[in-house]
Amino acid sequence: MNSDIEKILLSQDQIATRVKGLGAQISQDYAGKNPLLISVLKGSIIFLSDLLRQITIPCSFDLMTVSSYGKKTKSSSSVKLVMDLKQDVANQHVIIIEDVFDSGRTIYYILEHIKLRNPASVKTCVLLNKLCPHEMNIQLDYIGFDIPNEFVVGYGLDYGELYRNLPYVCVLKPEVYQKQS
Ligand code: IMP
Ligand code: MG
Repeated sequence: MNSDIEKILLSQDQIATRVKGLGAQISQDYAGKNPLLISVLKGSIIFLSDLLRQITIPCSFDLMTVSSYGKKTKSSSSVKLVMDLKQDVANQHVIIIEDVFDSGRTIYYILEHIKLRNPASVKTCVLLNKLCPHEMNIQLDYIGFDIPNEFVVGYGLDYGELYRNLPYVCVLKPEVYQKQS
């Protein structure tokens, strides 16, 4: 797996430090509010599990799945709901936890989906904000890192379902995509 990596963008230590900072900020901002963290499978699962353990106030989480890229490195144009939430979000302070903000279509879809269910408030927390023109103009409330507009894997992010288990965020060698596409 290591021989497929072109460069590491964010090290394990950099990610851990930033996630700790986000956890502290959320704990401060949501004191007394018992926020509900809603994560989008599968890419955000590692970020969610690390972030949860850096939040020092009572909180809960729920998971939903929307359709994803498949084995491509470009966003698909339509987002579809694959698995809905189990918890009722009405009157809850919701924080949407996402791995990466690219075109913005995924977060847009989730925001609309949640707003229809009368939450007390909704904010967004994204680990990676790609510095590219976003199709959807959405206010991100918490951002882990701004990153260049490159396809990245690791720390939950995949290419064709692989590389999610890398503990850092990296870019793959171009031949990896050529080989498998
Ligand atoms: P958006 O809807 O275009 O903002 O894309 C968001 C979703 O696409 C994320 O939840 C990821 O699952 C996937 N995605 C976007 N960029 C990347 C990437 O660089 N690597 C892996 N997955 C990505
Ligand atoms: Mg995702």
